[in-house]
Amino acid sequence: MSEDSPHRAVRSFVKRGGRTTRAQQRALGQLLATYGVADAPRPLDARSIFGREAPLVLEIGFGNGETLAALAARYPDKVYLGIEVHEPGIGHLLLQLQRDGIGNVRVLPGDAVEILRDDIADQALDEVLILFPDPWPKKRHHKRRIVQPALLQLLAAKIRTGGLLHLATDWQPYAEYMLETINQSRWFDNVVTDHGFVPRPHDRPETKFERRGQRLGHQVWDLQCRRNRSETGPGQRHPDPA
Ligand SMILES: C[S@@+](CC[C@H](N)C(=O)[O-])C[C@H]1O[C@@H](n2cnc3c(N)ncnc32)[C@H](O)[C@@H]1O
Repeated sequence: MSEDSPHRAVRSFVKRGGRTTRAQQRALGQLLATYGVADAPRPLDARSIFGREAPLVLEIGFGNGETLAALAARYPDKVYLGIEVHEPGIGHLLLQLQRDGIGNVRVLPGDAVEILRDDIADQALDEVLILFPDPWPKKRHHKRRIVQPALLQLLAAKIRTGGLLHLATDWQPYAEYMLETINQSRWFDNVVTDHGFVPRPHDRPETKFERRGQRLGHQVWDLQCRRNRSETGPGQRHPDPA
């Protein structure tokens, strides 16, 4: 990636304060040894992390992790990675994994763009979820939105052919931007023939942010696309500035 890439200079998050409880602090200090990936050989894929071949699902920006934990408990034959920067949320998920004895999730604290670029093996991911990403509603902040062509290019290198990318948002202008970006992408094909949104998939758990939006009367838009066979090409592996 070039030095002036937007994903180096402009991040899709600002570190929120938020109170980290003592239990979450303890989890961050102790449980990452069990549920982290520090010891796994790079680049990361299902085998290097879990020691076996299995469909690998990544959730980017898992918030408090309840969706990731619910999916992992429901689908024990799949293996899951979650990336998040918000420490209380990471602590919350670690505690839930321990409490519920969920063994098929690993947690990566940090910026998803950097972790994807530096740590995840090409073609390693079977499915990626980005659920209710920060909408950054002000125009001058749109460059902070995580879903943009540069991210799709990076994901195209990391998702195997036929793999699924699932996006959801309750912010209509972002939903329309996501749809346009997906439909213009060379590497992803919308799963529906009318190139529109999909009805809420029955197996997608409700998220914390989704419930908050519902209390405010927000509508929800889900979008799914599959990685097609188009090559990303050697010079296109990592996103360049748009
Ligand atoms: C609006 S919240 C949604 C959380 C959760 N998906 C839900 O629906 O409840 C967006 C989350 O994405 C995280 N996030 C934003 N940019 C990120 C990045 N580049 N890497 C990792 N996490 C990120 C934020 O910290 C925040 O927790």
